[in-house]
Amino acid sequence: MPLIALTASGVTVLVDATAGRLPALVHWGRELPGLDAELAATLVTTAEPVAGSNDPDVRPRVALLPGHDTGWTGRPGLRGSYAGAGWSPAFLVTEVTVDGTPAAEFHAGGAGRIEVRAGDDAGRLELRLVVELLPTGLLRARAALRNLAEPEYALEDLVLAFPVPDEADELLDFTGRHNQERVPVRSPFPAGLHLRENRKGRTGADSAYLLHAGTPGFGFGTGRIWAVHTAWSGNHTHYAEQVHTGERLLGGGELLLPGEVRLARGDSYESPWLYGGYGAGLDELARRFHRHLRARRPPVPARRPVTLNVWEAVYFDHDTDRLIDLAERAAAVGVERYVLDDGWFGSRRDDTSGLGDWVVSPEVWPRGLHPLVDRVRALGMQFGLWFEPEMVNPDSDVARAHPEWIMAARAAWPIESRTQQVLNLGIPSAYEHVRSQIMAVLDEYDIGYLKWDHNRDLTEAGTQPDQGRPGVHAQTLAFYRLLDELRAAHPGLEIESCSSGGARVDLAVLERTDRVWVSDNIDPHDRQRMMRWTTQLVPPEYLGSHIASGRSHVTGRRHDLSFRAGTAIFGHLGIEWDLTEATAAETAELREWVTYFQQERDLLLGGDLVRMDGYPDRILVHGVVAPDRSRAWYAMAITDSITPDPAVRLRLRGLDRDGRYRLRPVIVGAPPSGLIPPRWWGADRAGRVLTGAALEDVGVACPRVHPDQVILYRADRV
Ligand code: GLA
Repeated sequence: MPLIALTASGVTVLVDATAGRLPALVHWGRELPGLDAELAATLVTTAEPVAGSNDPDVRPRVALLPGHDTGWTGRPGLRGSYAGAGWSPAFLVTEVTVDGTPAAEFHAGGAGRIEVRAGDDAGRLELRLVVELLPTGLLRARAALRNLAEPEYALEDLVLAFPVPDEADELLDFTGRHNQERVPVRSPFPAGLHLRENRKGRTGADSAYLLHAGTPGFGFGTGRIWAVHTAWSGNHTHYAEQVHTGERLLGGGELLLPGEVRLARGDSYESPWLYGGYGAGLDELARRFHRHLRARRPPVPARRPVTLNVWEAVYFDHDTDRLIDLAERAAAVGVERYVLDDGWFGSRRDDTSGLGDWVVSPEVWPRGLHPLVDRVRALGMQFGLWFEPEMVNPDSDVARAHPEWIMAARAAWPIESRTQQVLNLGIPSAYEHVRSQIMAVLDEYDIGYLKWDHNRDLTEAGTQPDQGRPGVHAQTLAFYRLLDELRAAHPGLEIESCSSGGARVDLAVLERTDRVWVSDNIDPHDRQRMMRWTTQLVPPEYLGSHIASGRSHVTGRRHDLSFRAGTAIFGHLGIEWDLTEATAAETAELREWVTYFQQERDLLLGGDLVRMDGYPDRILVHGVVAPDRSRAWYAMAITDSITPDPAVRLRLRGLDRDGRYRLRPVIVGAPPSGLIPPRWWGADRAGRVLTGAALEDVGVACPRVHPDQVILYRADRV
């Protein structure tokens, strides 16, 4: 049985699958040159710690699926039983393959896929583990468990974990809520368990998102960092664990509700992928995830269409003439995709009624959506439409006809949230109903884009026809299947994952959707932080990023167009503003921003992300650098007070250190408010030529501006 060393994009994993034991990672981190059979075997020996006093006589070796049978007293990877029996299976590996071929005693290679098959000592369970090192240097693993025995096996938990070294002493993960998504939280790596559980039946605005452990004080460009992400849009966990002997793990998996997965003979359960990333700095780590999503097929191009979403302009007040007027104004400023949001169907005149009836309302749309869709298409824009396929208002035709389709754990329905309940897609007839209603709309109209929303948590989400047994697992799989079927039937259809703003953002949903709505909060003051941290996993071209009204509908703050737009252009640009209220000057300035984005989007949305360390929280410096390092866009956002202090310098990373670049400020539309430029800008704003190293280590003086402003710079190799 083998030792396997895989190396890709500067990352090496050394997997020990010797002696019939479940695989364990001897090394996961920076590339190890010269890793031959001898060194690999040596590392297995030299990694072996001295037994602690009063510890098992044979030291537990922490496998990807940690097991009690090895003496491990931390969190087990597998929990379940045959009515109390067989709760601590001892697995013996029977087969190990690398890229489909039986593994040699020692295998060294590039990116690759290791498959391990194991059986338990009683011959009742079959376990398959897949471990992949991807070309991006990302690691991912998943497990499948099959019950081979007659009695039913009740699965409680199946999680995988990757070890991290003792130097990884600080954690970073995320929390959040509606309108405040992806708030970073740092903490010391605790003794015991740091467990992030999600029971919302969706990824969650408060999801751990990515759980990092790194060398203390790690930043965007500094430190050694390991991170995990559970790629699952239903209930799930992320955890960091340090046991009494000092071993540290990062893990995660699906969170199963009581009795949710019971395996009859021959049945199997497959866990979600657990992704692992290593990076020297958060930027390197983030770029691995970006490259991973950019390699997706079909890809999401950097050349994303500028979008107008009418939600904040009209809310539920659908009037054909007004919506056509908005379409005309949108086209005039260069918009390329027009999205009609909530309110077009059934009795949905506000959020208390009609949800779940995916039929165009004859009351507000007597001639169907045709007049609007036709006009939008004639104006050269794509048409997009909002759905919330998993949800119903109790006051809807579908809920009245099929109350048994509503997810509930007992006869009484769960507590309402936004006056809505969850439709059980795990029931085949309910699934078929939704599928056929959506298909009918897609067949009737020329629709290129769906905004797929999901606006409540799944609490007490049981299957009524099955005594209210938990249905979140089945619901999550049905959601994926529905996305897959719609995409297969309508190739080229783009789908946005929205969930009360940004509550469904994870790598599983992003295998099937093409953009995420970052937050319902479009206030650029808050969006600066959300973009900064949402890009830790998701590349900018996936981030729905809109220019909102001058006064934020969520926070009530007022912001200049230059700050709103200068924030939004670093994502998939859109507009969510009642353009009938924009002045002629604002409309002209908006047009300038749209044109500028259209010229620069290949780089803005296709480059390598960099975020600068060393500034107080209220100053956010970030940028995108062309992969060949020939040019870059940078932004410095000042979100508070009359900063920066005069002595603060703009320091920029990401360019070739010995390359020479002209750095110059770029002003689109009106200049930032309160601007007093530094002398180096020059009268014609031609800037200066500096080396990449000078820009990084010495920096340049900043202008003075009012708070809540952004200053853009471009760097071009000379
Ligand atoms: C959610 C979304 C919004 C909008 C509304 C419509 O809150 O996040 O963007 O689509 O639903 O009801």
